[in-house]
Amino acid sequence: MSKKPTIRKEVETTGHSWDGISEYNNPLPRWWLWTFYACVAFAVAYSVAYPAWPIFSGEATPGVLKSSTRADVQAEIDRYAAANKPIEDKLVATDLGQIQNDPELVDYTRNAGAAVFRTWCAQCHGAGAGGNKGYPNLLDSDWLWGGTIEDIYTTVQHGIRNAEDPEARFSQMPSFGKDGLLTPEQISEVVAHVRKISGQEFDAALEPAGATVFAENCAVCHGEAGTGDHAQGAPNLTDAIWLYGGDVHTLTETVTNARFGVMPSWSYAPDGVKPRLSEAQIRAVASYVHALGGGQ
Ligand code: HEC
Ligand code: HEC
Repeated sequence: MSKKPTIRKEVETTGHSWDGISEYNNPLPRWWLWTFYACVAFAVAYSVAYPAWPIFSGEATPGVLKSSTRADVQAEIDRYAAANKPIEDKLVATDLGQIQNDPELVDYTRNAGAAVFRTWCAQCHGAGAGGNKGYPNLLDSDWLWGGTIEDIYTTVQHGIRNAEDPEARFSQMPSFGKDGLLTPEQISEVVAHVRKISGQEFDAALEPAGATVFAENCAVCHGEAGTGDHAQGAPNLTDAIWLYGGDVHTLTETVTNARFGVMPSWSYAPDGVKPRLSEAQIRAVASYVHALGGGQ
């Protein structure tokens, strides 16, 4: 078998030579060169057509096609807002109590209200509205401030004990221990009484005195029998539902230092600022919460 001898075509060198090693002056491969030119042409065309070069205003050159993904998103949002406008106008014009009788509004508030809830309320009240310690469960029929659609609407509109909205719901339980209104013994006694009226085990030696402490200090807000008062957001203490807790330790803590649960206002806004939620959104989420099962 004979091997063909390789024919070496002599290529010019660039003339550079180091230690006897010289550099061929081969042309670039044609495919590479054309790809390179195509990329340059594309880059030039792209920067003319689309936003490309940063300019001083903090934006970029707009490009002759005036393409803007931000404007596209805004247009999509506007399109949905326009599509929802008739039903939102109807929701705002409908008496709160009548919303549940209109199938179209029921359908809309169920979906739009759930979306508002997931975005703005779930952080505190839980994704399923089941609540957390200090943040009430909105599924049950135990209400601090009332469970009619009007009550819920007002609560959502203005919030509770927030410093922003002058119409926020407000009440404040005194810090009986911290402010020296009751002695630690009296607090133990009244805690025993609260344990009794909520149907739990209690210290029978302390409870009778506690009933007196309760009548003198607590009944104004929580009621003679401890069943609460919606006008003041005073919780019912006779059910097994606790905002903070019904064990002796938590009850002692509540009576000693009091609590101050705060919910933001959703309709309030200083001049020139958009409120957090629109009237339609507030009505949608109030109807949604009302329909969760605990509404009255
Ligand atoms: C920053 C936390 C927070 C957010 C966000 C929040 N809430 Fe509240 N919400 C509270 C607290 C705390 C209370 C209870 C206050 C109290 O002790 O009276 C409350 C109470 C309520 C009540 C009254 C319950 C009752 O038993 O009377 C309703 C209704 C309610 N929230 C609905 C909503 C809705 C709807 C949203 C969303 C638009 C929302 N909340 C967002 C903290 C929050
Ligand atoms: C001025 C009205 C007022 C008075 C007086 C008052 N409370 Fe309250 N109480 C409230 C309010 C309002 C809340 C809800 C507090 C919050 O969420 O910030 C509350 C909450 C509680 C809770 C928490 C309930 C739970 O579900 O976790 C207990 C327990 C309680 N009070 C017991 C008492 C006892 C005992 C007294 C008397 C020594 C008393 N309160 C006096 C208004 C009052």
